[in-house]
Amino acid sequence: MSEIEVNFREVIYEDIWLLYNWSNDPLSRQMSFSSEPILKEEHEKWFAHVMENPNIVLLIAEVNNEPIGFVRFNISNDEAVISIAINRSQRGKGLAVLMINESIKYIKKIKYIEHIYAYIKEENAPSIRTFLKANFLLVEKEKKEDYFYLKFRYS
Ligand SMILES: CC(C)(COP(=O)(O)OP(=O)(O)OC[C@H]1O[C@@H](n2cnc3c(N)ncnc32)[C@H](O)[C@@H]1OP(=O)(O)O)[C@@H](O)C(=O)NCCC(=O)NCCS
Repeated sequence: MSEIEVNFREVIYEDIWLLYNWSNDPLSRQMSFSSEPILKEEHEKWFAHVMENPNIVLLIAEVNNEPIGFVRFNISNDEAVISIAINRSQRGKGLAVLMINESIKYIKKIKYIEHIYAYIKEENAPSIRTFLKANFLLVEKEKKEDYFYLKFRYS
């Protein structure tokens, strides 16, 4: 895996439908806190909000200049919440750990961030394993509506 290089670039307006497809991927919907399919109009509003909000940093991860997924940081003061998704065809290759570690280096260069958290549904085994491998530690388990989510902190 170490020979694979993941690069990041900040999202641009032309990525709108790429992100729509990633966000509407069945696994992503299932593992999100609201699991309903996303309508195009909702996505357009959300995307416009992301583009104009300096506290949301949305990075497109690329391997060999091809987009493979995204990492999003929602920032509040010196804290950030990270979430990621990988294109279905690129899963199972260990790329997510690399994406998390490299994107954290990236964000720390452009923003002052002391603490990074991830919120993951209890049933999301691949994501939990990925974040543990990327040096996140479980700090809390909380109930939200009808499911549990786990809060992880980057150490
Ligand atoms: C989370 C995600 C990015 C992980 O991608 P990935 O690194 O390609 O994931 P993998 O398929 O390699 O699985 C990661 C690890 O979990 C393990 N795993 C996969 N399915 C599992 C299961 N059902 N039970 C237990 N472990 C499982 C894999 O074996 C792997 O472990 P290993 O590296 O020790 O072999 C990807 O599944 C995704 O995009 N999911 C949709 C969005 C999402 O859930 N995001 C997380 C919310 S922040």
